[in-house]
Amino acid sequence: MRGFLVVILSDPFSNLMCRKPKRLPDRDYSFCFIHGVILSLQVMKLVKGNKLVEIKIEKFKELIKKFEKVVLDLGTGDGRFVYKKALENSKTLFIGIDPSEHQLRIYSKKANRKKLGNALFVLGSFENMPKELAAIADKVFIILPWGSLLEKIVKPTKEVIKKLKNLFKSESFLEIVLGYSQQAEPAESTRLDLPELTESYLRNEVIPVFEQNPALFRLDHLTSLKPKDVAALESSWGKTLQFSQKRPIYRIRFK
Ligand SMILES: C[S@@+](CC[C@H](N)C(=O)[O-])C[C@H]1O[C@@H](n2cnc3c(N)ncnc32)[C@H](O)[C@@H]1O
Repeated sequence: MRGFLVVILSDPFSNLMCRKPKRLPDRDYSFCFIHGVILSLQVMKLVKGNKLVEIKIEKFKELIKKFEKVVLDLGTGDGRFVYKKALENSKTLFIGIDPSEHQLRIYSKKANRKKLGNALFVLGSFENMPKELAAIADKVFIILPWGSLLEKIVKPTKEVIKKLKNLFKSESFLEIVLGYSQQAEPAESTRLDLPELTESYLRNEVIPVFEQNPALFRLDHLTSLKPKDVAALESSWGKTLQFSQKRPIYRIRFK
């Protein structure tokens, strides 16, 4: 969970200044003085094997510099995609983000065993995105989202698009794979009031919102995926879905 503490100071001259407080342990917080107000923000949390550890922004920025590219996997689940891709490409830093610490441990433990230095498993969510992840990504993947993340993709708003765009360093490359059906997922479809997933729904209701400002996202392709394509995604859900009840699955790529 991310949180913040606000303390009003009497110093009106401290307009914008960030530093560590002297009397508090420096591993826990970074502090900013903004117009005499101290903002204390928790630092990014990583799942490392069975442990939850914190990484300071300076250390994280240093780490990023060692890699040619950064790829984010939002809603990574157990992190299989991140792990597999990191094994294949040592020059890219792969970062999986998910709100489930329990899930993240699964492939984080495997990554630890292999001493994989280019795979990170970050505790976070679309709603609580660690600020450290702003403007760092070359590519962002959202593979088989569920819950509030799925809802944000199938019913996108301007705020959702802006938040996604904020993750990119410069050019956008966003790949979304999504699939569900009222028959296969009746409870979630009703709870989230999900529309029927069809190519025409995506073309008419979803993609235009992403493309509202062409400087943000432009459609590269929209494809219907077969079970073997879904399995080839290297994600755990992709593997599971190839054997489960039939449902439409689409890949949308924006550049
Ligand atoms: C069906 S799983 C897919 C996991 C993984 N991408 C895969 O293909 O194996 C959906 C994931 O979305 C995550 N999720 C749900 N809501 C989220 C949100 N608001 N932000 C980030 N992740 C979210 C869940 O925790 C879950 O791990």
